[in-house]
Amino acid sequence: MSSRRLAVAITTALLLTVGAAACESGDSGGTASGGKIALLLPESQTTRYEQHDRPLFEAKVKELCADCEIIYSNAQQDQSRQQQQAEAALNNGAQVLVLDPVDGAAAATIVSLAKAKNVPVISYDRLIQNAPVDYYISFDNERVGQLQGETLVNRLKELGKTSGDIVMINGSPTDNNAKLFNKGAHSALDNSGFKTVPTPDFFTPEWKPENAQKFMEGQIAQLGKDGFVGVYAANDGTAGGAISAMRAAGITPVPPTTGQDAELAAIQRIIGGDQYMTVYKAFKPEADQAAELAVALVKGEKPSTDRTVNNGAVDVPSFLLEPQAVTKENVKETVVADNLYTIEQICTSSYSAACQAAGLT
Ligand code: BGC
Repeated sequence: MSSRRLAVAITTALLLTVGAAACESGDSGGTASGGKIALLLPESQTTRYEQHDRPLFEAKVKELCADCEIIYSNAQQDQSRQQQQAEAALNNGAQVLVLDPVDGAAAATIVSLAKAKNVPVISYDRLIQNAPVDYYISFDNERVGQLQGETLVNRLKELGKTSGDIVMINGSPTDNNAKLFNKGAHSALDNSGFKTVPTPDFFTPEWKPENAQKFMEGQIAQLGKDGFVGVYAANDGTAGGAISAMRAAGITPVPPTTGQDAELAAIQRIIGGDQYMTVYKAFKPEADQAAELAVALVKGEKPSTDRTVNNGAVDVPSFLLEPQAVTKENVKETVVADNLYTIEQICTSSYSAACQAAGLT
């Protein structure tokens, strides 16, 4: 580096440090001079949040900003708790909120609180609605639903079926993603020859596996054990609940069932034949993107994006990543190749025969 460029770099670094320190004056606690970033995640029953999103985000922030401090909270599916956590983070001097809302509509209140303090908000994975959100980072969520629907229909056709009922188990009614998954799924399932039941669509309160299981028990009682050809479950948690209900009712084999998240338990069910597919949304690019953006915002930068998504109030500058369908055929090329899980983690003793048959060991 030339001496002039070095001088500029040092001056910039000094200015940034002074800027960050100035931002923090009046802050009661905390010693971070690099900035404070709040990460607010919605729940911990779905394994992605504590196993992937949180550690990946924290590692990337540390890599980009060694003296940045992260204030982490998990709302355990409780919107009012998430609001308290956001308020606490703001009182604690958070300069950016990275928020994955339990309730996309109610979270507008959190955005108002942040805006009152001039704190930017990044909507992480789920879109916050009707509020002046600064950025949105997610996957193409309609495409997620479409992949689920298409893969299910193709499998049913492969099994020689052309008609019949598909029990549809959607995500949480307060999650905007659940609506997008549902829309994408309908685009593949409607006019496919199959019919989704029940009408109107069922949305699983709080995305809870036990709620999906109870709902599935009711559907089995109503339709009969042979009364449906497949199950659309919006994620791996709800798929797990539905599969437990089918197993308990003595349904074997379990008809083709979808999922999402590439949870380890779901990958094992796919290898073992109880679940047909999942959708893998690579966590690292999503968490990395959020971390890069949060650090940039703390430094006063405003990165540009090449697209926007309207949330009812504004066109939110957005980054949308591509999801991927995973079946037994491509577990190795996707989640194993990406080092999400090792073969050893997937192929525990109860899956060793299935793993061998699937060509994993
Ligand atoms: C996420 C899914 C997750 C679900 C339940 C959705 O918003 O996109 O990956 O399975 O919430 O937490």
